[in-house]
Amino acid sequence: MSLADRLRRWFGPSSGTVGASDATTTERPTHGAYDRLARWYDWSGAIAFSDTCVELTLRALRDARLEPRSCLDIACGTGSFLMAMERRGAFAVGVDRSHAMLVEARDKAREQHARLALVCADMREFQLGRRFELVTCFYDALNHLPDTIGVAAAIETAARHAEGGGLYVFDTNNERMFQRVWSGPRATIDVVSGDVEIDYHYDPVRRTGSAQVTFRRRGEPPVTGWVHERCHAARELERALESAGFVLESRGPHPYFADPSESLKDLWIARKR
Ligand SMILES: C[S@@+](CC[C@H](N)C(=O)[O-])C[C@H]1O[C@@H](n2cnc3c(N)ncnc32)[C@H](O)[C@@H]1O
Repeated sequence: MSLADRLRRWFGPSSGTVGASDATTTERPTHGAYDRLARWYDWSGAIAFSDTCVELTLRALRDARLEPRSCLDIACGTGSFLMAMERRGAFAVGVDRSHAMLVEARDKAREQHARLALVCADMREFQLGRRFELVTCFYDALNHLPDTIGVAAAIETAARHAEGGGLYVFDTNNERMFQRVWSGPRATIDVVSGDVEIDYHYDPVRRTGSAQVTFRRRGEPPVTGWVHERCHAARELERALESAGFVLESRGPHPYFADPSESLKDLWIARKR
């Protein structure tokens, strides 16, 4: 039985609603925000974050003595990470639920003569029919899933695509991020020729947050989208990794946000058994 069928059997047929182990959550369409914001996503500073992920992943690969010939980037967005892997000789495949983000990735790859395979799918349930030596999932994409069952499904799906001995590298926003940043107030980040304004709301009981993101680029009308995230407990992720057949090698501070001792983001490195 496919994962989609199992989820439907457990939680009913409504495709827009996914049940949680601790609560039932109505899923809100975060990917709609990315469809709206896709054209401005790289402009907003995301490439610098991606460059850090490339560096951290290359270090993890060196430590593991791996030179992957294939890379699957899940929730690949506009493809910056994938392009860096492709330039290093990897067969590079990206999956994302937002068609508009993938269009940006495709156009960027064409301009830079990079060969990427891009698939529009939900990270909780896709089947590409092959395995990869490196599987990644960056920029708190797993936090976009509204419940534990979704995270477990996404990790199980990543595991089905990982070669034995291969690495699974991802980051998550941690409790400090939600308590310090997502609890508000509003943040304004200056970027070249404009700014990004983010209005945060965090519910510590439900462990869910919403961010209203407005991109204001000089000379263009502002564009707004809502991003919804959940603060997944580290032990939920550890359990999901273990039951999907990954061995956790390390969980450490992701240095991109704040000083590492007070990091707001965790970097996870796991190896497929
Ligand atoms: C913050 S962006 C990160 C993009 C890219 N990984 C990066 O580092 O720039 C989050 C991405 O997750 C994607 N996403 C969110 N929920 C998803 C899901 N259920 N399945 C696949 N992609 C999803 C969004 O469309 C968006 O491109």
